[in-house]
Amino acid sequence: MPFLSAALDRVKPSATIAVTDKARELKAAGRNVIGLGSGEPDFDTPANIKLAAIHAIEAGKTKYTAVDGIPELKQAIIAKFKRENGLDYMPNQVIVGTGGKQVLYNALVATLNPGDEVIIPAPYWVSYPEMVALAGGESVPVICTADFGFKLQPQALEAAITPKTKWVILNSPSNPTGAAYSRAELKALTDVLVKHPHVWVMTDDMYEHLVYDDFVFTTPAQIEPKLFDRTLTVNGVSKAYCMTGWRIGYAGGPSQLIKAMTTIQSQSTSNPSSIAQWAAVEALNGPQDYIPTHNKVFKERRDLVVSMLNQANGIDCPRPEGAFYVYPSCAGTIGKTAPSGKVIENDQDFVTELLEAEGVAVVQGSAFGLGPAFRISYATKTSDLEEACKRIQRFCGNLK
Ligand SMILES: Cc1ncc(COP(=O)(O)O)c(C=O)c1O
Repeated sequence: MPFLSAALDRVKPSATIAVTDKARELKAAGRNVIGLGSGEPDFDTPANIKLAAIHAIEAGKTKYTAVDGIPELKQAIIAKFKRENGLDYMPNQVIVGTGGKQVLYNALVATLNPGDEVIIPAPYWVSYPEMVALAGGESVPVICTADFGFKLQPQALEAAITPKTKWVILNSPSNPTGAAYSRAELKALTDVLVKHPHVWVMTDDMYEHLVYDDFVFTTPAQIEPKLFDRTLTVNGVSKAYCMTGWRIGYAGGPSQLIKAMTTIQSQSTSNPSSIAQWAAVEALNGPQDYIPTHNKVFKERRDLVVSMLNQANGIDCPRPEGAFYVYPSCAGTIGKTAPSGKVIENDQDFVTELLEAEGVAVVQGSAFGLGPAFRISYATKTSDLEEACKRIQRFCGNLK
């Protein structure tokens, strides 16, 4: 449509939202569908956080706030960075936004000029390349295969850096693979980055708290203090605190960058919801004991899904360190014929036929930059997961 901006030609709608919509459509038509596409915890927001929001409403904390966040939330974020990551930020080095997504987007809009490159390890969260494109930059995907645990290798990082590189985006634990970098793996990457002072690090630590089997989370600025002045450490309350709908994310970084991001926010959305900000203060300062309780359930689900998928013909499912995703390969099903008579030529066919034949909604790996594979979110009732995995086993078993 000629009326629309040319910028829209550069972006695609989210594949994860598309699969969730398709599953909803089939459900509405009476089909028994299990949706494993959505990236949010199935647990409710903890009661103490809800109460903090109710108190904020009752106390009239319902007006505009400072664009970059209320001082109380900034203090809670500063304390969190210190306590959990050993990072020291000042209030002018912290910004609160409407979800981690807005924080990441504002950072890209605030820094990218046409031709600027952003290195994005693939498989990647679907929004990174689209945000880079909207902000006018060029994404440089670097394929990270299952052989290396879907993790960026130092040589590959070195090879991807050019004089035009502005950012490298790191996301550990990862959406979509669940892969998380150990301290040594991250140090090998920060050692490369130290040698390239023009490259900045955008680290998306959204799944920090969702790690299993004694895995220890670390973040680049903590491992390599020399990178502190060119790292934006992004985090939020959506995943660990089951607050996806509240829309609070935040970042710590150099004050000039934070100021530029605040300017963009001030002329677009202004402050995030005052009520959600007070809820986030409680999330960060209040009890944290439900996190290990949730993680115990997530870990059991991960182990269940990995084990059941590895029993399906043609599927190979690595066991990731964190988040609530697995990223199995469906390479062994390519070339086979589905019950509908369609030959499966790629992972898009695999997920479409799986949804049609068995009513299980997953997202094709090609949407995340590496196929043939698919992503399963196990942030879903355990009984549904078990049933979904049985259906996947049956689907794969029926392929000819
Ligand atoms: C890797 C990653 N980063 C950022 C976000 C955005 O989180 P928020 O809900 O805080 O905007 C998500 C949400 O799915 C994510 O998976």
